[in-house]
Amino acid sequence: MIALGIDIGGSGIKGALVDTVRGEMVTDRFRIPTPRPATPKAVIVAVKKIKKHFNYKGPLGIGFPGIVIDGVTLSAVNIHQDWENYEGEKAIAKATGCETVLRNDADVAGFAEMRYGAGRDATGETMIFTLGTGIGSTMFVKGQCVPNLEMGHLYLPRHKVDAEQYTSDRTRSELNLTWKEWGLRLNEYFNHIEFLFSPQRIIIGGGVSKKAEKFLKYIKVRADIVPAELRNEAGIIGAAAAAEVGDYTL
Ligand code: BGC
Repeated sequence: MIALGIDIGGSGIKGALVDTVRGEMVTDRFRIPTPRPATPKAVIVAVKKIKKHFNYKGPLGIGFPGIVIDGVTLSAVNIHQDWENYEGEKAIAKATGCETVLRNDADVAGFAEMRYGAGRDATGETMIFTLGTGIGSTMFVKGQCVPNLEMGHLYLPRHKVDAEQYTSDRTRSELNLTWKEWGLRLNEYFNHIEFLFSPQRIIIGGGVSKKAEKFLKYIKVRADIVPAELRNEAGIIGAAAAAEVGDYTL
């Protein structure tokens, strides 16, 4: 099946048509810079433009950078606060005329990795992290997603900030950290995560995962830690796959 997947990010809103059987994009990515301010109204205009670009009719899957329960967006850290307690799924379905599935961005990216990528053969507890403007996180246990995990907002008392302010890719570039400096921050973070959750596999996604050889070597954990295979496309591919299946059951 072909479905349109859209990833709403802190800097860009990206979409592509996806073959949900193969887990591959069948078109180039179409990207619109995230409007400022990124209010629901402005973001929905961008979503409509993407739909129009592909001249698309059919199920629409969307990854959103915040908590989403039953189609309602409940948090908005890297996006406008009007998204808090907003019936996002219904509003997008109404504006586009498409049957819409709206889920957390890390949950759909993780779903794509589990279905088609680095988690395909995973049998035990698997956690997926996306390192970007924020830190997205999700967990799969026996094929089931544990949604809206929000491990990017784990408070690190020693540093007096949320993990995302200490270890996101945005922080790496804003503070101009070397790969080693950043890798050691990630090491501290993932050791804490491992102590709390004991995952058997940790998959690292987000755009920076294509440079995994530069920082993964500094992360010393018991779990098998690997880069995402779908890289930055996981969000789009997973959103389209979620539109196809309607939930995260593998
Ligand atoms: C949000 C998460 C999101 C992540 C990546 C965090 O700030 O709270 O919901 O998955 O950023 O976009």
